[in-house]
Amino acid sequence: MFQHKKILLAIGGGIAVYRIAELARLLIKQGAHIRCVMTESACAFVTPLTFEALTGEKVHRHLFDLTLEREMGHIQLVRWADVVVIAPATANLIAKLTHGIADDLLSTMMQACDVPVLLAPAMNTSMWESAATQRNIQQLKTSGFAILAPNDGFLACGEHGSGRLPEPQNIADAILPLLMPQNLSDEHWVINAGPTEEPWDAVRLLTNRASGTLGARLAQIAAAMGARVSLIAGPRTPEFGHGIQRDNVQTAEEMLLVCEHRGRACDVFVATAAVSDFRFVDISQEKMKRGDTTQLAVSLTSNIDIVAHIAAMQERPKKVVAFAVESSNHLAFAKDKMLQKGVDAIVANDVQNMGNNHAGGWWLDHHSQSTLENSSKYEFAQQIVHKIMEIPS
Ligand SMILES: Cc1cc2nc3c(=O)[nH]c(=O)nc-3n(C[C@H](O)[C@H](O)[C@H](O)COP(=O)(O)O)c2cc1C
Repeated sequence: MFQHKKILLAIGGGIAVYRIAELARLLIKQGAHIRCVMTESACAFVTPLTFEALTGEKVHRHLFDLTLEREMGHIQLVRWADVVVIAPATANLIAKLTHGIADDLLSTMMQACDVPVLLAPAMNTSMWESAATQRNIQQLKTSGFAILAPNDGFLACGEHGSGRLPEPQNIADAILPLLMPQNLSDEHWVINAGPTEEPWDAVRLLTNRASGTLGARLAQIAAAMGARVSLIAGPRTPEFGHGIQRDNVQTAEEMLLVCEHRGRACDVFVATAAVSDFRFVDISQEKMKRGDTTQLAVSLTSNIDIVAHIAAMQERPKKVVAFAVESSNHLAFAKDKMLQKGVDAIVANDVQNMGNNHAGGWWLDHHSQSTLENSSKYEFAQQIVHKIMEIPS
């Protein structure tokens, strides 16, 4: 997610500092290059050694560092970064930032900062809710700082309330949009994802191996690029990213209804869900008994083809993209499907991608055909988003 991205972690002196070590690890695992600046108070909670060991980089903490300042280090630090993350953002740092106070390395460097900044405040509830902190936060928001509001929960001080540092993955999710071009800010994307489940009796289902990961990644990337995103999610579809409006559904019929509702006149409809082609004619409310039979015939009836239905709607989305999962002749089958379903483009991929962390395939639209490189599902989704953006509206 953060391949080749340079993230400057500016660490304030709150009890949640120890959780920033986990954030640093997570960001590094996702490809980021991390440097850290710590306030003197932060160093009283966790030693800089922890962050030096995790990042393999010197931790910066002194404004009057002769080696660093020979090159105007406090300015170079923010010039190096693609994004600055202040976490935990203490009440003190929030106040200093609001009023332009520059009395240590972290606050001085922030005066020279012109890259996006995310603040993750964490503190005791009364401190968070205090008039001064709330006023400062409003002012920082107005000045263009991104603020990740703290969670509710048990706080280190033993109290319960608002002020908990969000989970490291939630902080990472909030960093992503600050690193992405906001090219989709006028668009509404509707994405369906995951498998569907068709009940047969009280406990048995007809389903498939789809994980929903690709659709959830597409939703995350489109939202990070500024789109309003609706995700219609089959069972077990994971949650990635921020600000995604999500409807959980089980059966193909439920998915159809929600897709129809959300997809009407949207800008982009992407059908990644592995929707069951069939459902049971008779559904038992009780658990069916095994009995003495050695063979059993069940009756199935076909479900509506959701993507073809959406592509044929009167208030059709501007762009409709289907997926074709095949085990052979991928391109030939995909081309037939694109025409049959009346969609603008189709992504052909192999059944082996289902439930895997990696995926590759082919992109086909009415003007072009290209290979989508085998990569992580996040990067695969990124390639698809760029292809969708290239379809003429
Ligand atoms: C045990 C302890 C825990 C603290 N936890 C927090 C905290 O979670 N959030 C906060 O804003 N301040 C907290 N403080 C207060 C800050 O450490 C204090 O305001 C300090 O001046 C912050 O310095 P800095 O903003 O330069 O890092 C805590 C203080 C102590 C002694």
